[in-house]
Amino acid sequence: MTAHDTEKTSGGVGIPDTMQAVTQNRYGTPDVLELTETPLPVPNDEQVLIDVKASSLNMYDWHMLTGTPYMVRAIAGLTKPKREVPGSDVSGVVVAVGKDVTGFSIGDEVFGGVGAGAFAEYAIANPKSLAHKPSNLSFEQAAAVPMAALTALQALSDVGGLESGHRVVVNGASGGVGTYAVQIAKALGAEVTAVCSTTKVDMVRSLGADTVIDYQRDDYVDTERDFDILLDNAGNRPWSDTSKVLADGGINVSISGPKKRWLGPFRALLFRKVLARFGGKRMTWFTASTKRADLETLAEMLESGQIAPVIEKVYSLDEVPEALAYIGEGHARAKLVISIDGS
Ligand SMILES: NC(=O)c1ccc[n+]([C@@H]2O[C@H](COP(=O)([O-])OP(=O)(O)OC[C@H]3O[C@@H](n4cnc5c(N)ncnc54)[C@H](OP(=O)(O)O)[C@@H]3O)[C@@H](O)[C@H]2O)c1
Repeated sequence: MTAHDTEKTSGGVGIPDTMQAVTQNRYGTPDVLELTETPLPVPNDEQVLIDVKASSLNMYDWHMLTGTPYMVRAIAGLTKPKREVPGSDVSGVVVAVGKDVTGFSIGDEVFGGVGAGAFAEYAIANPKSLAHKPSNLSFEQAAAVPMAALTALQALSDVGGLESGHRVVVNGASGGVGTYAVQIAKALGAEVTAVCSTTKVDMVRSLGADTVIDYQRDDYVDTERDFDILLDNAGNRPWSDTSKVLADGGINVSISGPKKRWLGPFRALLFRKVLARFGGKRMTWFTASTKRADLETLAEMLESGQIAPVIEKVYSLDEVPEALAYIGEGHARAKLVISIDGS
């Protein structure tokens, strides 16, 4: 099927045959990326085609760029990336709809995750990973939501079992996931302690954290508090340290850990999980998933003003290598956005 066929079968109009896209033919540093003119992706009967207005960066994109830890290559491609256009978070306008798609029409403004292909003018998406864009957000703001906010919501609610009144500590509170985690935990009625570096203390406090610990001055594992949930976005401490801050029955939800070359954090996290069995406290890790229902929950929270995206900088499509190099350093302030169509 060609892009032209798609236009006919889906009713899309004015869709070009080619587009500007960031492409990657091998794993490596950001200089392996090129901005090229490539054919449009063609949606199948169960997919939609999005005119991409904006995307945003996550550490996930760094892992896909570098092919590290090496275990990601089992899925992303053993010797080179299976999908040439990187980028997962997306916001834009639906311009073509597969015949079996329900819930979305041409012209709908959407946001969500596409796995790969978002650093381009057009991207295909599975409608199960999309929701309608919150009406009060620009495309750039909406693109800053999906992966980071879904991770925070699922970590706190589904995995952590957060209830109103719980005491929550967020380690790594100033990054993409952390800035949403602080706001979501507050919105769900928690008392929140946030851990970040010195220059980000004021920003994190402005998100509603009750207590902010500057990790360059104080150590959160020395705190007296018995936390119900530790959301660990940094994973930089052993179980013997982090278990001390948990109340009996409390849970450590880890989404990160020591960045080892082959298995990433998984060996250390498995070891911590085994140790946790011996002490009346719980430890788990999980991988977030892009579910429409959770995107809709986030859209409601965004529209009601309970949470809001925090954006450090907006880049253009040809600045994706620069933006990826920055996020790879691991100290971005909240979210980095790619503006693709001047939204
Ligand atoms: N399992 C999953 O499904 C999933 C999903 C999304 C992300 N992740 C992982 O979760 C981690 C966080 O993701 P992100 O998108 O929030 O990344 P990010 O935007 O790059 O943020 C990284 C955070 O780590 C903090 N940090 C670095 N060193 C620290 C330390 N010694 N102590 C405390 N905090 C420290 C940084 O804060 P400062 O700048 O203040 O140091 C920053 O807030 C990444 O490792 C990512 O790969 C996992």
